[in-house]
Amino acid sequence: MSKQVEVSVIIANNQIKWWERDGGVRFLKEVGLKSGQRVLDFGCGVGHYTIPAGRIVGSTGSVYAVDKERQAVNKLKQKAKANNLKNVKAMKASGQIELDFESESIHTVLFYDVLHYLGKNDRKKLYQEAFRVLKENGLLSVYPKHTAEDDPIQEFRSLSLSDVKQEIEDLKFVFEQKHCGLISHDDGLNQGCVLNFRKYE
Ligand SMILES: C[S@@+](CC[C@H](N)C(=O)[O-])C[C@H]1O[C@@H](n2cnc3c(N)ncnc32)[C@H](O)[C@@H]1O
Repeated sequence: MSKQVEVSVIIANNQIKWWERDGGVRFLKEVGLKSGQRVLDFGCGVGHYTIPAGRIVGSTGSVYAVDKERQAVNKLKQKAKANNLKNVKAMKASGQIELDFESESIHTVLFYDVLHYLGKNDRKKLYQEAFRVLKENGLLSVYPKHTAEDDPIQEFRSLSLSDVKQEIEDLKFVFEQKHCGLISHDDGLNQGCVLNFRKYE
């Protein structure tokens, strides 16, 4: 590894450490996470959002973190242990579009940087599942990275941010606010926006 690459890896690692300890906690509090909540982080990866969420919900809450990649789930389990976050429950997902939770059992669902993996029908199923598992007034927070305006790839190549907002509103969710800032993406930080929706019966 060249000296320059080595230095950028160190900088990225430090950014992520800061994010999981400090920046991400502040950001997710502003998004609406609170102490005592039951949070579901679908497509959690190695937990760049799960770890700060675990700090916020505290010992009276839980963060259920699911991902179809076993390696990511195992890494997250190690990190949760190293951070003494007993409230983080990391689970390997089947890869099917189902949320294995009781109806109306979750306060907040996070779909962060994951929706672009899914085709239109699967996204629709996933929004319906989020609606089912959320409590009344529950929060669905979405980070739709990789839309047409922001490094477009995979299923989001031809969708704008407002197309994604519309497809979620079409499934009965009520748009509440857009929240922007310096946020985690992959192994670094970038400027990004999350969209918040509420479930109102
Ligand atoms: C780009 S990563 C984002 C990780 C994390 N949410 C973040 O923002 O840092 C997307 C993750 O979604 C997971 N994923 C994609 N489709 C999935 C599915 N159907 N079920 C569960 N996890 C899925 C992938 O394995 C990957 O770890």
